[in-house]
Amino acid sequence: MTSLQAKPLIIGHRGAAGEAPENTLASFALALRQGADAIELDIHVSADGELVVCHDATVNRTTNGEGAIAELTAASLKRLDAGGWFAERYAGEPVPLLEEVFSMVPAGIMINVEIKCAYSPRLEERLFELLKQFDRLEGVVVSSFNHKVLQRLKRSEPRLRIGLLYSSNFANHRKVAEVSGFEVYSLHPYYRLISPEDVADAAAHGLSVYPYTINRQEDLLAAIEAGMSGIITDYPGRLRELLKSR
Ligand code: G3P
Ligand code: CA
Repeated sequence: MTSLQAKPLIIGHRGAAGEAPENTLASFALALRQGADAIELDIHVSADGELVVCHDATVNRTTNGEGAIAELTAASLKRLDAGGWFAERYAGEPVPLLEEVFSMVPAGIMINVEIKCAYSPRLEERLFELLKQFDRLEGVVVSSFNHKVLQRLKRSEPRLRIGLLYSSNFANHRKVAEVSGFEVYSLHPYYRLISPEDVADAAAHGLSVYPYTINRQEDLLAAIEAGMSGIITDYPGRLRELLKSR
């Protein structure tokens, strides 16, 4: 059956993290080859003030190195292998900087930049420099579980698209945006906690809903049926296949 309902954006979580080493250029390239409309990634600030794409605050889990990103320079991070832990064929895959992702990903692909570190003036300065340099202000949604960071960034640049990440359940999810005290572009709830009614209510109030992280076929189908604006998944190819017939 063909639906008239708009199809959700396919948002590749850390690229295509189910099939490639998360948050690497190889993972983002795979997500794009699999038909992702958008990619999600995580950032931290290095000791010398570069925006580094990595989920954890340390490089211990996802590279062959050790240490906190905040205490390592970009040059030393660049010497690490961020792919070998996942599969031998990815050995030597580097830790990317945000500017490299902005360079690689075509302009029409939305990038969801999740801020994993605390606010700092350097984070703000470098993020806005890059958004300007790559003309990405409208093509990026900046999200975080830390809503204070989002508020500060929004105050500095009112055009910035903000996504609210949260893992709690709410009687009315739209209220999360209302009580935040600043204009929100999208809600990013844990996928099990939001009902189709809440998705419709958010959409009726101009909010996109991008739940995380949905991988199983039955959950992907339920999210499509619920009318999600986008779906964050480790398997963008799997979601693309499911959407083909709809
Ligand atoms: O942005 C959605 C999702 O990535 C949040 O959780 O731990 O995968 O960064 P996490
Ligand atoms: Ca994330």
